[in-house]
Amino acid sequence: MARLPILEYPDPRLKKVAAPVAAVTPEIRKLAADMAETMYAAPGVGLAATQVNVHKQVIVIDISEHRDELRVFINPVLLEAEGEAENEEGCLSVPGYYDKVARAARIRLRAQNERGETIEFDAEGLLAVCVQHEMDHLRGKVFVEYLSPLKRTRLAARLRKKHQLAG
Ligand code: NI
Repeated sequence: MARLPILEYPDPRLKKVAAPVAAVTPEIRKLAADMAETMYAAPGVGLAATQVNVHKQVIVIDISEHRDELRVFINPVLLEAEGEAENEEGCLSVPGYYDKVARAARIRLRAQNERGETIEFDAEGLLAVCVQHEMDHLRGKVFVEYLSPLKRTRLAARLRKKHQLAG
């Protein structure tokens, strides 16, 4: 396995739309394993392939306390989304920034797992938030794009300053 570099907002490559995975090959399983290692090392609770500059529909999530319940979702599709819940979110592509985002409170997801099996399940709470956040990445969307224009202007100023300091 290998840790992969994570793209940081506003890198234009984060706007690319990921393509469906035609078959769950050893190459895709290796990608998922590398993404998991990258997520655990960061550390984070979720990562989309888009964030490591691979534009395929693969996400990894682990919201467990002991970091031992890895979930791999390939070609995820939301079958249902209902209710609304606002939660504070962060993103490995926007380090150090957290803000509230409103999303569906409950979802029903269909995806393939790392064995290529089709799975369907209901999720709510943090898992529902993570799935929606990572699926946005696959569509080229970063969570800060939901923020008000004022907040986005402030964030942009902060990122410019950070990059100037970093040289
Ligand atoms: Ni993210």
